[in-house]
Amino acid sequence: MLFRSWGSAVEAPWPDVAEVTDHVGVRHLVVTRHAQVRQVLADPVSYRPDNALDAMTPMPVTALRMLAGHRFRLPPTLANNSGASHPRIRAIVADALHPTRVAAQRPWLTALVRDRVARLRATLDAGHSVDLYADLAADLPLLVLARLVELPDAPVGAVKEFARAALELFWAPLDADRQVALAGEVGRFHRVLRDFAATGGGLAADLRNAGHPPDVVVGALFFLLVAGQETTSQFLTLLLHRLAGEPAVRAGLRTGEVAVGDVVEEGLRLEPPIVTWRRVAAVDSTLGGTPVPAGTGLVLWLGRAGRDPAVVESPDEFRPGQRGSRRHLAFGAGAHRCVGDMLARMEAAVVVAEAAPLLDGVRVIRPPWCPDNLTFRMPDAFVVRSATGRPAGRTGF
Ligand code: HEM
Repeated sequence: MLFRSWGSAVEAPWPDVAEVTDHVGVRHLVVTRHAQVRQVLADPVSYRPDNALDAMTPMPVTALRMLAGHRFRLPPTLANNSGASHPRIRAIVADALHPTRVAAQRPWLTALVRDRVARLRATLDAGHSVDLYADLAADLPLLVLARLVELPDAPVGAVKEFARAALELFWAPLDADRQVALAGEVGRFHRVLRDFAATGGGLAADLRNAGHPPDVVVGALFFLLVAGQETTSQFLTLLLHRLAGEPAVRAGLRTGEVAVGDVVEEGLRLEPPIVTWRRVAAVDSTLGGTPVPAGTGLVLWLGRAGRDPAVVESPDEFRPGQRGSRRHLAFGAGAHRCVGDMLARMEAAVVVAEAAPLLDGVRVIRPPWCPDNLTFRMPDAFVVRSATGRPAGRTGF
């Protein structure tokens, strides 16, 4: 979903490119069709990624001072970097997330999820409710990331709080008091990252040894700690919630008629955790007949592009394997395409394979609630309980 304040326009049939004014009076062009979203993503010269991490609500001096006090800086590193250093930084991160290294984590993750699912089933069988966000999905991606990339020794809860604070600070509509509070939280953790970047091994050392300055090492770690785990834990929660309402898909998984990989792709298409991503026009151009003057901020509606009837046979239906299902843009496209896509897919495949049977015979007590945010869905909980009061079904696949 886009900002809730854009809701009435969302209900109307959107034009291919829609002009919207945000809560602080800034004008954006929202790009809604698959072909044009792809066109923008594939052309980093005309449409640069420089604004990808700009705060949607400009920060008051008090919040900026708070960040400066923690020596917070976010130089162009990965998603917001259109400079010459981008391919070199990206290559180092891509090495750390190489598909072979990702595949090597699969058995460990499977064992962990299987163990958690067994405990959750016992809790459900005992008649209690379980939160599939907090008790299953929230920390899994961070635990896997920490096995792939050397990270500062910080408690999982502290990393999650910092990451969610960052997503709110940069992408939510906020008042000044909240901005100051969030700036304090983000700044404090940034300081932890700065210390780690100076001495840490693994990826931090690789970036240092390649000659990248300390701000760049911190910036890359900052982005990775947010993008590399918060996105996926949100996706796992949203996908499980969606599957709770798709009994035919779960039945297909049980019999083997529906492939886990197809479920993950259809989930990315219909329930992407990142609904929009930004670019800024570097030159005058037109998109679908709409003039785009240089300097215009573009909001690429990835979620809507995934439901474009020009690409997908049944755009609003969850039909794993249907024509066009895999052509979603949930991971972006082009030079900045998500470098963690294989990791996210592996994690989601393990969770679907192991946890989908839990959803048989449960009722949803509390669906995920998502706060107002331009880009991230940030579900807060997903609580279920046995539907009958009797033990939930034990069928597996
Ligand atoms: C379901 C989970 C995920 C989704 C939906 C997602 C989505 C995205 C999107 C939309 C972009 C921007 C792409 C563009 O500008 O074209 C991106 C970039 C990026 N993502 Fe992901 N991501 C996910 C998981 C991950 C994970 C697990 C990691 C790493 C551990 C990761 C690391 C990155 C990095 C480093 C970039 C910047 C790439 C660059 O600028 O070169 N992401 N992601």
